[in-house]
Amino acid sequence: MSEIAALFPLLLTLFSAQLLQALPQTYLQSTKHHGSEMEPQFTEKYFSQTLDHFNFNSMGNATFSQRYLITDKYWKKGYGPIFFYTGNEGNIWEFALNSGFITELAAQQRALVIFAEHRYYGKSLPFGNDSFNIPQVSLLTVEQALADYAIMITELKQQLAATDCPVIVFGGSYGGMLSVYMRLKYPNVVAGALAASAPILSTAGMGDSRQFFRDVTADFENIDPGCRDAVRGAFSQLKHLAEHQEYSRIQAEFSLCKPPSSPQDIHQLNGMLRNAFTLMAMLDYPYSTHFMGNMPANPVKVACETMMTGSDLLANLRKTAGIVYNATGVLTCFDMYSLYLDCADPTGCGLGFDSMAWDYQACTEIDLCYESNNVTDMFPPMSFTEKDRELYCSKRWAVIPRPDWLKTQFWGDALSTASNIIFSNGDLDPWANGGVRKSLSSSLIAVNISGGAHHLDLRGSNDADPESVITARKMEADLISQWVKMERTRLQQSL
Ligand SMILES: *[C@@H]1O[C@H](CO)[C@@H](O)[C@H](O)[C@H]1NC(C)=O
Ligand SMILES: *[C@@H]1O[C@H](CO)[C@@H](O)[C@H](O)[C@H]1NC(C)=O
Ligand SMILES: *[C@@H]1O[C@H](CO)[C@@H](O)[C@H](O)[C@H]1NC(C)=O
Ligand SMILES: *[C@@H]1O[C@H](CO)[C@@H](O)[C@H](O)[C@H]1NC(C)=O
Ligand SMILES: *[C@@H]1O[C@H](CO)[C@@H](O)[C@H](O)[C@H]1NC(C)=O
Repeated sequence: MSEIAALFPLLLTLFSAQLLQALPQTYLQSTKHHGSEMEPQFTEKYFSQTLDHFNFNSMGNATFSQRYLITDKYWKKGYGPIFFYTGNEGNIWEFALNSGFITELAAQQRALVIFAEHRYYGKSLPFGNDSFNIPQVSLLTVEQALADYAIMITELKQQLAATDCPVIVFGGSYGGMLSVYMRLKYPNVVAGALAASAPILSTAGMGDSRQFFRDVTADFENIDPGCRDAVRGAFSQLKHLAEHQEYSRIQAEFSLCKPPSSPQDIHQLNGMLRNAFTLMAMLDYPYSTHFMGNMPANPVKVACETMMTGSDLLANLRKTAGIVYNATGVLTCFDMYSLYLDCADPTGCGLGFDSMAWDYQACTEIDLCYESNNVTDMFPPMSFTEKDRELYCSKRWAVIPRPDWLKTQFWGDALSTASNIIFSNGDLDPWANGGVRKSLSSSLIAVNISGGAHHLDLRGSNDADPESVITARKMEADLISQWVKMERTRLQQSL
């Protein structure tokens, strides 16, 4: 304790200096060209948040600065609902600028909108650049993050004279999992949850380890089985070159900055290549986007066209990886260790500080043991078992994962006593089958979005939207408005 506490005042000073860098400006400007009309001007603020909610001795009453974005542009003050986005593994601006549905709905339902940044991500680093040291990193848990949101909601309601305003939580992906958990753990604070593309079952160890890459493969196969065969063929050629240690040929074929020189390097190359397909499958939106990088419209289709042009499969694979890694067209070569990090999440941890936070979460509570095997999917065999995870995590973070904890803590699939949760999933999204696909009761509702990728429904309206997502958003809007009415009645009765 003492070590951390002693560092703390200094870090606070460093932290305020960081705040002066005007990041949001850049973000707002960069969206002018592609943002939706409905994008409000969020105000960026910081909330003084308790550092350790569950141990009164470790940190005393120490706090950290947690970032959030807020707009009251549409709010009927003191009466309209509060739409609260439970931030996930990244800079909160990324989510705010890619979740236009929430502000569109706020305009209809006259809601206050808040996007809260998850502790240890973006600028909400409790110990500044030391946040990922051991033991400082240990305050990064799902439970701490949920408690942050519960406290922030409660205090902001006081500050804004909004104590009678019903709160609905929204989230996509891991953020959607957090929205579900908020409704399970704090139904006194939140009246309902829209959980878009939330893989609550697979991450709790209740899935099939082959599901994820099988479903990535299906997206490419559904464009054309020849596409799947071309990808498999290209990886097979790469395998043969590697087996013969033709490392300089591999460097040339894939425009690598450095030649590979070991099986470890080949593993890294395969991981980097596989990750390009993962991202294109997740972000297979019908228009170009700037979320988790830059993607063309219908990237899976673009990839398949690239894979099936001419007979040079290795060149095609390189160009296909370039759709993801060289979207800007400025890379002269691929530096495979800086473009992709091998970590405890085989679907990718991202880059920078955020990737360390996510790696730690994948090493503790969030179970992401997915494998590819070249049989149920088109990728080279790359296994990642609980045993592999344990070895990696004890070495990297000095922790032993607890694969059963999430299921115990957040109910697994035994959700029937919960209420007011929408589980939406798009059938193109490789995460979909790790989530709830069938309604469990009249207030635990599964929504299918045919032709939808990763939380397409949270994105703002677009002319290229399929009919299915328009219908899904209408249904979500109706349910949310019903929950808000129910909650008003409940709040009035409890007066
Ligand atoms: C923490 O507790 C100390 C001692 O009781 C007090 O002086 C200080 O103001 C408290 N800080 C916060 C942020 O509440
Ligand atoms: C913290 O790390 C970031 C990213 O590596 C760097 O830009 C920044 O200067 C560092 N801040 C301090 C105070 O060391
Ligand atoms: C990146 O794209 C540019 C423009 O298309 C191309 O000239 C360059 O060779 C690409 N870089 C790599 C590493 O493939
Ligand atoms: C995948 O399996 C096929 C046989 O079904 C084999 O020819 C190919 O080399 C394998 N690819 C890899 C990367 O292991
Ligand atoms: C959604 O689609 C899945 C997979 O196709 C199916 O199993 C499920 O029953 C569908 N759920 C609803 C609510 O239509």
